[in-house]
Amino acid sequence: MAAEHTFDFDFNDQGLKGQTFILSGGSGGLGSASSYLLARDGASLIVGYRSNRERAEALREELQSRFGTIVELIGGDIGEATVRERLIQAVKRIGYPLGGLVCFTGDPARVKFDQASETDLQASMGENYIAPILLARAAAEEMQSSSVSGSIVLFSTMQAIVPFESSINYAGPKVALVHAARIMAKQWGGPSGIRVNVIAPGVNRAGMALQSISSGKYDFFVEKAIIPRFGRPEDTARVVRLLVEPDNYLTGQVITVDGGLTLRRDIG
Ligand SMILES: NC(=O)c1ccc[n+]([C@@H]2O[C@H](COP(=O)([O-])OP(=O)(O)OC[C@H]3O[C@@H](n4cnc5c(N)ncnc54)[C@H](OP(=O)(O)O)[C@@H]3O)[C@@H](O)[C@H]2O)c1
Repeated sequence: MAAEHTFDFDFNDQGLKGQTFILSGGSGGLGSASSYLLARDGASLIVGYRSNRERAEALREELQSRFGTIVELIGGDIGEATVRERLIQAVKRIGYPLGGLVCFTGDPARVKFDQASETDLQASMGENYIAPILLARAAAEEMQSSSVSGSIVLFSTMQAIVPFESSINYAGPKVALVHAARIMAKQWGGPSGIRVNVIAPGVNRAGMALQSISSGKYDFFVEKAIIPRFGRPEDTARVVRLLVEPDNYLTGQVITVDGGLTLRRDIG
């Protein structure tokens, strides 16, 4: 008897309508492309920024005119409890449940370890670890209280994946962030739980890496064909989009979006 073959697949092409996402740092170099993609796919956005209101307003105007989406802006340092509360409170104003948090905030903490003071080390720990995990906890509480099985995406770095010389002050807290995300994924996961994943970008022609790229410091990565090109904000945005899909099956993972840099950086 011939076997019965069915090729009936559901790739969940519904988009993100009816959901709100908090993108903390969503107006920055990498964040703005993710804000664009989520708005394009129908999500309502709460975009957090620290001080550059002008850029955040320009992004809001662009997204509203292109896609007609709701974009609410919340300024201030997420290291402060009141700012985290304002981000969560904005969800209630929008009226659609919180489907997820994407936290782009971070600081390059460019002080070399042999010159770093205790204050420098603590500042990086605050910016790159403590503030993002506290915001993740607040977002998880909000999703749990409204029984939403949402998604949290945190931003680490390739420097947390392999050791780069002198980068202790930046990489140390970003490594801690990766492990915290795995614990959160375990603790808050389950049948209707929250998924938590991390993106570890490589060198992007955007945001905080722009200055180093412009100086020519990283040209050898491309010249020696270690990477095919520098990263683009669209590269990480596509991964964000995948991770926030409502029925996505990934949790507790670190996705390194670096064009292979961490695999091949010692070649040549
Ligand atoms: N760009 C890269 O190639 C690269 C490579 C590896 C890892 N990463 C990681 O990817 C993430 C995004 O980087 P990026 O290049 O997009 O950075 P960016 O262009 O400097 O943008 C950072 C965004 O976060 C906001 N922000 C920063 N600290 C904040 C705080 N404490 N509270 C509230 N908002 C805060 C900034 O607001 P204002 O501008 O208004 O202050 C801005 O919107 C970072 O975590 C970074 O470590 C980036």
